[in-house]
Amino acid sequence: MATMEPREFLAIPGPTPVPDAVLAAIARHPIGHRTPEFSKALKEVTEGLQWLAETKNDVFVMTASGTAAMEACICNTINRGDRVLSLICGVFGERWAKLAEAYGAEVERVVFEPGQAVDLAILQQKLKADAQKSIKAVTITHNETSTGVINDLQAIAKMVREHGALSIVDAVTSFGVTRLPIDEWQIDILATGSQKALMLPPGLSFIFFGPKAWDAYKDCKSPRFYLDVGKCKKSLAQDTTPFTPNVSFVEGLKVSLEMIKAEGRDAVFARHIKLRDSLRHGLKELGLQLFVEDACASPSITAILPPAGLSVGEIRKGLKSRYRILVADGQEELKGKIFRIGHMGYVFERDVHMTLACLQSVLVDLGFKPTPGAPAQAALAR
Ligand SMILES: Cc1ncc(COP(=O)(O)O)c(C=O)c1O
Repeated sequence: MATMEPREFLAIPGPTPVPDAVLAAIARHPIGHRTPEFSKALKEVTEGLQWLAETKNDVFVMTASGTAAMEACICNTINRGDRVLSLICGVFGERWAKLAEAYGAEVERVVFEPGQAVDLAILQQKLKADAQKSIKAVTITHNETSTGVINDLQAIAKMVREHGALSIVDAVTSFGVTRLPIDEWQIDILATGSQKALMLPPGLSFIFFGPKAWDAYKDCKSPRFYLDVGKCKKSLAQDTTPFTPNVSFVEGLKVSLEMIKAEGRDAVFARHIKLRDSLRHGLKELGLQLFVEDACASPSITAILPPAGLSVGEIRKGLKSRYRILVADGQEELKGKIFRIGHMGYVFERDVHMTLACLQSVLVDLGFKPTPGAPAQAALAR
């Protein structure tokens, strides 16, 4: 039955709001996947993704979520017994370690405190200590969604390149948010997904695969079938995919890439910085404590501590029930300790102001008194 309610606003770190033009494209009757029409669309989105990542490397569209693209990064390059260094700033950094272990890799975890970025000096030390060059790959989470930290990928990739290991990057919540020039930074493998800054629902993921990654592929014996990038490459040479793809989402992606092109790549990145800065400014003005310091604050996700005496649960409940705004809880060890606001993709200054105003009203109703000028970073009561 039709009811009179405002549209739910997804201020979670994905899925993110989907533009009407994309919704219209994916709602059309599906086209056949072995047709010239689909081949044309696939070619267009492949070129669009390469344009966005400033790369000539191969990129494959997979009908699967971001974790499948991450798994494809591992099962196409890592053998049982290979040494993998995993840089871990949170839940998604740990996911790389678990994935590599699932394929029998010897994983060394380099773990940073929640809310902190990768310490470049520690990474340098680790790589320097590996005089035998036994580390085959370094896994990196560009933007750690669970804490709202962005890492200095350019510097990390440079160190990894100088060492000689493969760089394997999760860019699920940074792709389309910030500049990510794969060729200039010489990133070997990068995975991302559709449901974040690419403004589609969940369901597609993308893997960029460079020349050094193909060398590793040739020597890789790990089991794989659906996620075999060799199959993707062979098919893509014929402008098609090895299996039945989500044709509707490819049509939707064509539209979202057109929108990104129309706004301009750099303008999109600048908008995300502005959204982050406006939100952080507004939160500090309210007297809320931010979980991450300015220097490594993510342009796509902001984590906030609940004010003393209030729970994350009641804040989230208030926003959802009164305003139909969804914000996310913390994950795993941060559950109940922080809440997270996503601001990537089809999000504008208006949305940030609306979220701030609604958050303020919910907090005040719960008894909070705004106290402007809170410190930028807060220590968690552990
Ligand atoms: C940084 C990061 N990596 C990986 C993933 C996993 O993607 P998916 O849930 O699409 O498998 C997510 C999902 O939120 C993410 O934020």
